[in-house]
Amino acid sequence: MASITLKNVTKVYTSSQSVGGGLFRKNKEKKKDVVAVKDFSMEIKDKEFVVLLGPSGCGKSTTLRMIAGLEEIDRGELYIDDVLMNDTESKDRDVAMVFQNYALYPHMSVFDNMAFAIRKRIPDKKEVDRKVREAAGILGISEYLDRKPRELSGGQRQRVAIGRAIVRNPKVMLMDEPLSNLDAKLRNQMRSELLKLRKRIDATFVYVTHDQTEAMTLGDRVVVMKDGEVMQIGKPDEIYSNPASLFVATFIGNPQMNVIPVSAYRKSEGFYINLFGKELALGVEYSSTLSKRNESFIPLMLGIRPEYITLDDGGGLFEGEVMISEHTGNSIIVHMNVDGTEIVALEEERNRREINYTQDSILHFSFSLSDVYLFDAVSGLNITYGVGNGQ
Ligand SMILES: Nc1ncnc2c1ncn2[C@@H]1O[C@H](COP(=O)(O)OP(=O)(O)O)[C@@H](O)[C@H]1O
Ligand SMILES: [Mg+2]
Repeated sequence: MASITLKNVTKVYTSSQSVGGGLFRKNKEKKKDVVAVKDFSMEIKDKEFVVLLGPSGCGKSTTLRMIAGLEEIDRGELYIDDVLMNDTESKDRDVAMVFQNYALYPHMSVFDNMAFAIRKRIPDKKEVDRKVREAAGILGISEYLDRKPRELSGGQRQRVAIGRAIVRNPKVMLMDEPLSNLDAKLRNQMRSELLKLRKRIDATFVYVTHDQTEAMTLGDRVVVMKDGEVMQIGKPDEIYSNPASLFVATFIGNPQMNVIPVSAYRKSEGFYINLFGKELALGVEYSSTLSKRNESFIPLMLGIRPEYITLDDGGGLFEGEVMISEHTGNSIIVHMNVDGTEIVALEEERNRREINYTQDSILHFSFSLSDVYLFDAVSGLNITYGVGNGQ
């Protein structure tokens, strides 16, 4: 059993910066606070797999290290199984951590690297041996137990690092970008192995990555972070189909969601926008949300995912000129110039019709307004998030 509760967990680093000062003047020290994590609150359920996702520097590792006890919590509370952990030493938290750079002991064999973690705790040599061999079996590294880390490939080393964590049979498994040093093919393979692994070990997972595919495929829930703050917490499909903000909407999804600045304006029957010269009536949900505001012109960002754009060579509502087409094998990604705005559409190869996707050809396209997202141009918030817009 291990639930993890974070309540307003905050980390502020104070770094010294020298300012001013020339050759003959003394440098002045100026303290600068970096809020690495701000008011992180979440309840992680027993055996849940939670992924912290966000761009580099957004506070993912700091959050993980605070759960691990490797970093002090400046404000807020951390509970594991309802026991306050703020002042509990890392070794007493029953957590194991896997790092991006593996952090193996180079002079020790694979066996010893794995056994090292439990020898102190388990005096019985046979029991240590059994546990190491069991973990090695799960990870497919039984043949390499006598080797040194340098005699292994990157993927094998990462398995050893994971093995070292699972022999300890921890309540909480923390992983910080464990796959990011592997090449693309191995990363895909290890990703599916992690999915199998989590079913075999009885732990609650908190997993850090900047890779949206890892987050979407591994996570029961995903926490999207930006600048130390939680932007949204939800199941992968919720984050994809109902993003709370423009940031989340454009961070998740590949190719990225198209974003077009528009203004909504009021007419007697509701709200309208003008998009590439066409006047479109917004649906009832949008209109009722917008009508709560007093402005007659409301600047918005319209978002439409590339996979929701339908291409054709005539009849579509809008017209664009093909800039480039990328063939990825199972899909075609078409970049179009539409009145000076770049619009990207994705068409599955199997749905491909007799359309000329080549550069400079003119394509028509359309999309349903029910697949569109509207974000406030100033706050970036999804105007119908939480209101129920049928998404
Ligand atoms: N030891 C430290 N001292 C000062 N600032 C730090 C330290 N560690 C991290 N930071 C800063 O805290 C922020 C969050 O860092 P981090 O948690 O490592 O981000 P991520 O893992 O998402 O890339 C960054 O701005 C980073 O520069
Ligand atoms: Mg990090």
